[in-house]
Amino acid sequence: MKQPLVLSEIGGVPVTELAARYGTPLFAYDVAAIESRLARLASFDVVRYAQKAWSNLAVLDWLRRRDVLVDAVSAGEILRALAAGFSPHGDPPPIVYTADIFDHDALRLVVEHGIHVNCGSPDMISQLGEAAPGSEITLRINPGFGHGHSQKTNTGGPQSKHGIWHEQLEACLQQADRFGLAVTGIHMHIGSGCDFEHLSQVCHAVEKMARQAGRRVTSISTGGGLPIPYREDEPEIDIDEYFRLWDETRKRLEEAFGHAVRLETEPGRYLVAEAGYLVTEIRAVKEMGGNTFYLVDAGFHNLARPVLYGAYHPMSIAPVDTTRSTQLRPVIVGGPLCESGDIFTQREGGFIDPRPLPAAQVGDYLVIGGAGAYGFVMSSQYNSKPLAPEVWLEEGRSTLIRPRQRLEDLFADERIPGSQAG
Ligand code: LLP
Repeated sequence: MKQPLVLSEIGGVPVTELAARYGTPLFAYDVAAIESRLARLASFDVVRYAQKAWSNLAVLDWLRRRDVLVDAVSAGEILRALAAGFSPHGDPPPIVYTADIFDHDALRLVVEHGIHVNCGSPDMISQLGEAAPGSEITLRINPGFGHGHSQKTNTGGPQSKHGIWHEQLEACLQQADRFGLAVTGIHMHIGSGCDFEHLSQVCHAVEKMARQAGRRVTSISTGGGLPIPYREDEPEIDIDEYFRLWDETRKRLEEAFGHAVRLETEPGRYLVAEAGYLVTEIRAVKEMGGNTFYLVDAGFHNLARPVLYGAYHPMSIAPVDTTRSTQLRPVIVGGPLCESGDIFTQREGGFIDPRPLPAAQVGDYLVIGGAGAYGFVMSSQYNSKPLAPEVWLEEGRSTLIRPRQRLEDLFADERIPGSQAG
């Protein structure tokens, strides 16, 4: 993605104004970016947003009003979807629960609300079959091979915990029959990136599984995994080609079955990653052993992707004094946590990667881009740091969609054994 090294505004709002109004660190989301991504997926029958990427009610509501449906992976995400106004059932199902297990809350909620389930394990089929016989289900299949931007995000193959193993499909179909569950769709989330040769293997596997599941199949899902270019030199995925491969698969199935087959896609990152920025303030500039460090007030408790996966995120400086020199120099960007891995400029394996960034001083802002997906949702309160606020930017206006957590709330629910309150 293209993010200038000196950035003065996000979504038409000056960074300095955002920082003054909401404090730092903060997440700001430019809705126009989501809008343009969504427009590119118009060919699909259903865009089902994988809310795990970013699940604030504001984005769920915004997408719902644009006919996007939603995926949920937990009881909490089901409740979020309902709270954002998605109805529990419909055709196609507005909410689909996709997971490899039911915890007790999730099973209770899907049964109570009649939510469609995409089963990722044989145990889910029997648990749902016992609790809600006669339901329609879809199956998430692990085709025996995978893909992913790191080992931690690989989603198929024998070392992945995800999905129903392809060789067990027949047994699962029989198991579904015993409970009167109708298998109406096949789902595969592999995360193919821009590799179309791999994608055609995935399409082939979906087609084979759908044929095996038979004529009751009325939908196939591509899963998620549509990539976005975090680095400026990374290619943009050719969505038309992506659609074409899936559409051909769908058409072959329609011909075989003699009825329409819905084509769903399930992006998370693609829709929201570029919309989100983590705005931080530089609180220390240290020169140590020939290295320059910018230490900012956000850490891996706000954005875990660099420390977890060595993920690259674009960075910019928003200087307070715009007349100062912004000559580039190699910089290591770190956060406030008491842990040496709290570095935003690192590669997989924890190797530090200094980044050319404009000269800056304490009090300037450092803005981390590509933070809309798997940013806020993966944050923690490590080191007793409160969760950052979230701000929605639309048509040059900012709206707080989640306030900063109060410091006192960090321990408000804790109890000291033997004390009065306990
Ligand atoms: N559908 C299913 C069944 C999934 O498991 C996922 C992601 C998606 C859709 C959406 O994938 P996306 O389009 O966002 O790539 N925390 C990692 C990503 C984990 C993805 C987990 N599943 C990261 O920060 O890159």
